[in-house]
Amino acid sequence: MAYQIIDGKMVSEHIKLQIAEAVKQRLASGLKKPHLAAVLVGNDGGSETYVGHKVKACAQVGFDSTLIRMDEQVSELELLSVIGDLNRNIDIDGFIVQLPLPKHIDEQKIIEAISPEKDVDGFHPVNVGKMVIGLPSFLPATPFGILELLKYYKIDTSGKHVVVLGRSNIVGTPLALLLSRKSKPGDATVTICHSRTKNLSEITLQADILIAALGNPEFVGAEMVKDGAVVIDVGTTRVPSQETKSGFRLKGDVLFEEVAPKCSYITPVPGGVGPMTIVSLLKNTLLAADISKK
Ligand code: GUN
Repeated sequence: MAYQIIDGKMVSEHIKLQIAEAVKQRLASGLKKPHLAAVLVGNDGGSETYVGHKVKACAQVGFDSTLIRMDEQVSELELLSVIGDLNRNIDIDGFIVQLPLPKHIDEQKIIEAISPEKDVDGFHPVNVGKMVIGLPSFLPATPFGILELLKYYKIDTSGKHVVVLGRSNIVGTPLALLLSRKSKPGDATVTICHSRTKNLSEITLQADILIAALGNPEFVGAEMVKDGAVVIDVGTTRVPSQETKSGFRLKGDVLFEEVAPKCSYITPVPGGVGPMTIVSLLKNTLLAADISKK
């Protein structure tokens, strides 16, 4: 089957142009540049890369950005104090604390310390709760980006069977909810699968749209995918590589070469979902700035 690549890089560039235009409009009407802050604790290679991409994207669309680096050994109290400062800082429209955090810090406590109005990751229980009942809220960036991709490629989800592999708070759980809702994209029949799911292939073979968000490189093989399915690969595991300057390369959750020929549409890794996560965070930050009317 001839498959079409879902080009997240291209779609994200398109959306960045729209955001840059909105920033120009804001400046022309006397409003300030949106300002995103990111807190990075420790030196995890993956987190460094993601936060670097977020900061760079801010510059591309004309946002201000602030990167706050904290030592791996920082205490929970010190981190909470920085979050308090960001909550009170009227110049900051939104901020994120890059996850995962070191083991000695209670991640949930940190998420709950972020003011919901500035929680552009959409991880605070207030924003999660609003999302669950369909009130306006900041949608978590990766699910939001996937919805945008489905919309851009006019992939119909209504009445389709979507199978989501993975039940994380960041991707699997919110995405399953958003796609089951009465909306466009939405109106899908959704199955969530996870590490305890029995007869996994039997279920994935029923998927019109298969979304892999487990963080298990090349887990999904051709034998798990129905002919003509849409496959969205959220995996971004760093594996050692001698072919790249960094010494790493990103591997998705899908065995691309084997699975792609069975698909109608498929996202590559890198260049699929990843760039969309970044622009969704920018969209949320623009929204936060617009709401606060600064
Ligand atoms: N770690 C992996 N994905 C994300 C994300 O979307 N936001 C934050 N803050 N941390 C993450």
